[in-house]
Amino acid sequence: MPTPEDGGDDSPSHRRRIVLLVGLMLAITTLHYAIPTATHAQHQLHIAARKLYFLPVGVAAAWFGLRGSIRATAVMSTMLALHALLRWPSDTMERANQLAEFVTLWIVGAVVGLLFDRERGLLDEIAKAHAAAVTGLVAALDLREHDTGTHSLRVRAYTLLLSRRLGRDAARRGAVGLGALLHDVGKIAVPDGILLKSGPLTSAEQAVMREHPAAGYRILCRVGIPAEAAECVLTHHERYDGRGYPQGLSGDALPVGAQIFAVVDAYDALTSVRPYRGAVSHAEAVSTIRAGAGTQFDPRVVAAMMDLGEAAIRRTRRQAESELPT
Ligand SMILES: [Fe+2]
Repeated sequence: MPTPEDGGDDSPSHRRRIVLLVGLMLAITTLHYAIPTATHAQHQLHIAARKLYFLPVGVAAAWFGLRGSIRATAVMSTMLALHALLRWPSDTMERANQLAEFVTLWIVGAVVGLLFDRERGLLDEIAKAHAAAVTGLVAALDLREHDTGTHSLRVRAYTLLLSRRLGRDAARRGAVGLGALLHDVGKIAVPDGILLKSGPLTSAEQAVMREHPAAGYRILCRVGIPAEAAECVLTHHERYDGRGYPQGLSGDALPVGAQIFAVVDAYDALTSVRPYRGAVSHAEAVSTIRAGAGTQFDPRVVAAMMDLGEAAIRRTRRQAESELPT
């Protein structure tokens, strides 16, 4: 079901399109009704304006599919019929011509609407298949490093929740969510001996491990994901105080996606069971994150995280874990 967040029926972009379409229909109808037919040239212009009745029908089909094109056709055909009744042509050929245009308007409305609906359905199927493939990939990567395949799904869900709290628009939320989902994809290049080592890493092993954000960034740039998502992958180990890696970015030089990710990744790490310790409570995790505001984390993002509340975070966690492919 469409929602205000994803551009659904109540979204500002949906309302803007309706206003534009109504304006277009009014402008075309006014133009058609206003142009006189006294001279031959005026009559030709008048008939040309009548051809514009097809334009809102096509626009409505592209924006709203079959339902939209049928509604636009109903409006435009009513205006066309009303005009024919007000200026009933004496010429039989002109009557036939107007009737044919009326019928063609309905045929075009139905066919174009159906075609756009079919195109939208195919695009949805492709998007679902793509999402399932990406989810399967990150779950496999998570399984390699963690006991479960849900870490990346959870950090994506927390990132989306926190981005919404910070007032980011749907497109940017989607991009940072994708970046959070794929944050550790570069670990595919880290050997098991280093990634799964239980003891402390040597400095040479640390150097290999620290390559994974850049490796992930290079992989994702090649497959053409949104720049903001790839940037999130590159910067997901940066810190607010500049002591992170690989670039040592600090403060506002850090992309917002990375600042959000740092907080949610820490929260997920703290509230998840690790081989060497149990999960801490929500209150303890929040307290640890608050202590890192201004050093490890951006204080604005920490404040937004505090506002979310435990119930919303728990609900998000359950939802994310249910997405694990079976
Ligand atoms: Fe990482």
